[in-house]
Amino acid sequence: MSVTSDILKLKKEKNAVILAHYYVDEDVQEVADYVGDSFYLSKVATKVDQDIIVFAGVEFMGESAKILNPEKKVLMPEPGADCPMAHMATKEEIFKMREQYDDLAVVCYINSTAELKTYSDVCVTSSNAVKIVKNLPNKNIFFIPDQNLGRFVAKQVPEKNVILNKGFCPRHVAITENMVVEIKKKYPQAKLAAHPECTEEVLKYADYIGSTSGIIDYVVDTDCEEFIIATVDGVFGEIRKKAPGKKLYTLKPDQVCVNMKMVTLDKVLDVLEQENNEVFVDEEVAKKAMKPLTRMLELAK
Ligand code: 13P
Ligand code: SF4
Repeated sequence: MSVTSDILKLKKEKNAVILAHYYVDEDVQEVADYVGDSFYLSKVATKVDQDIIVFAGVEFMGESAKILNPEKKVLMPEPGADCPMAHMATKEEIFKMREQYDDLAVVCYINSTAELKTYSDVCVTSSNAVKIVKNLPNKNIFFIPDQNLGRFVAKQVPEKNVILNKGFCPRHVAITENMVVEIKKKYPQAKLAAHPECTEEVLKYADYIGSTSGIIDYVVDTDCEEFIIATVDGVFGEIRKKAPGKKLYTLKPDQVCVNMKMVTLDKVLDVLEQENNEVFVDEEVAKKAMKPLTRMLELAK
């Protein structure tokens, strides 16, 4: 029996469901019941009726699934897979900002720890951040932790005072303006699709800016044969399935998320067999963090 067939068999036997982010390896995406961007996966997490959720992604994703589903068993194939950006804001910065502005809304990118969420008013993902910030009644917005997504949002909602934090994604900021200029010379016909976690120097060249699913849809639906992809190359699998003829270029050879890469097929099988690496979130923290998450689900409708 192959690892894949063992996983499929065990998944059935244990009444488990596998959720996978587009950044994990394609063979892991293949065994998943649901594959998507962070927003889609958090919505799915509230709807599945299996007893066990195996989350093929990074820590904040498993944590969010657990917070939204306290009664379910959420398992992480690789408990060490963490997103460094999730830790790039502090509660002290939030307290300081709340002192400065009476009407402040703390908008927390879902790529954040459960603890940071407890001090926030609403969560967002890259696919709904603009819509949610636009519709908030508050003028002053403290956007944590990603400065690049925050800056992108600020440009779309000039009527708001969006205050940025210092966080960033090490993978996306490693894509530089120079890389974009060089690759555009090589493939002048290609369109550039970028994730908003890229720097503004990169985003200014983009033909499309959006979440991982947004990028996939854009490439599949756009009448063009060549695309430069400024995000983790995990999105290539889904694009190739839907539009096999399209030529896809990365800006650098190792355009991967090292954290997501830690999630392997063997580890998915192992976690299903052992039922270990369960996600636990402190009850009080979970209760408080649930509010901004459910508010996101409401406001993004
Ligand atoms: P998406 O919500 O676009 O899938 O992005 C998640 C992420 O971690 C990007 O680096
Ligand atoms: Fe975190 Fe960046 Fe990996 Fe996304 S790509 S999970 S932001 S490290």
